[in-house]
Amino acid sequence: MNHLKVERDGRVVTVRLHRPHVLNALSGELLTELLGVLRPLDADPETGCFVVTGSEKVFAAGADIKEMAGKSAVDMMAEDYFAPWEKFADLRTPKIAAVNGPALGGGCELAMMCDLVVAGESAVFGQPEIRLGVIPGIGGTQRLTRLIGRAKALDLILTGRTMDAREAGSCGLVSRVVPDDRVLPEALDAAATIAAYGRPAVRAARECVDMALETGLRDGIRFERRVFHALFATADQREGMTAFLEKRPPRFDGS
Ligand code: CAA
Repeated sequence: MNHLKVERDGRVVTVRLHRPHVLNALSGELLTELLGVLRPLDADPETGCFVVTGSEKVFAAGADIKEMAGKSAVDMMAEDYFAPWEKFADLRTPKIAAVNGPALGGGCELAMMCDLVVAGESAVFGQPEIRLGVIPGIGGTQRLTRLIGRAKALDLILTGRTMDAREAGSCGLVSRVVPDDRVLPEALDAAATIAAYGRPAVRAARECVDMALETGLRDGIRFERRVFHALFATADQREGMTAFLEKRPPRFDGS
């Protein structure tokens, strides 16, 4: 692998973006590597959570501008440029973004495709594509608006300004803001907690929460109720509830 470093610790897999000379700019090759690593792991029952991180200085400064700069509209449409990023969003294993430094453009979009975002105090978020004469193209106009609302999303997208971790935390883009040196430990800790729960319930919870952003309230509640009912077909449900009643810790096996 050229652009990633991957480590596994039990059920938690950490992927570190590693293109330091271009501040982890997200090239097509990096995305191919990312999906090549994560998709098989997503299907592996021994995988409980992914952590995606950058360096101590930068998460990712966006899509690779050099790679895009010379393309025509016909090239972009023919390649359906950026389309494979949705395969990252669609991974069913929970993903935690551990963010230090800038998460701009595609970097911010990558963080928003994750389920939890743990940010250091030095983290900076934004969608500065307007400065390049374009707009966000990896879901930024859609996800940012759903996450932080129209007024704030347009403030960022139309002015190209960035926001610091505190502002990102207060408007709902970030799950937890911690001191810079605590970002990865905090993310790994959360990942280990999630990975220890039963996989059917974890995946069901993710899917239902995402449904809240994709559908109306009545349909979302009906969907949640059906998924809740379906979990009563799992051994994890029996184990979790029996363990509670027997006053002992549960032993989930994902079945
Ligand atoms: N793509 C390609 N190369 C990039 C890059 C990117 N997104 N961001 C930084 N680099 C490169 C720079 O060209 C520079 O390379 P050289 O050393 O060869 O000149 C190197 O990384 C270091 O960058 P800077 O010298 O600019 O570093 P800095 O510390 O002065 O500034 C920064 C840091 C504010 C993040 C600045 O690099 C920056 O503004 N980067 C671009 C941010 C951006 O516009 N992102 C959006 C890209 S479009 C997108 O993401 C997709 C989309 O949805 C459409």
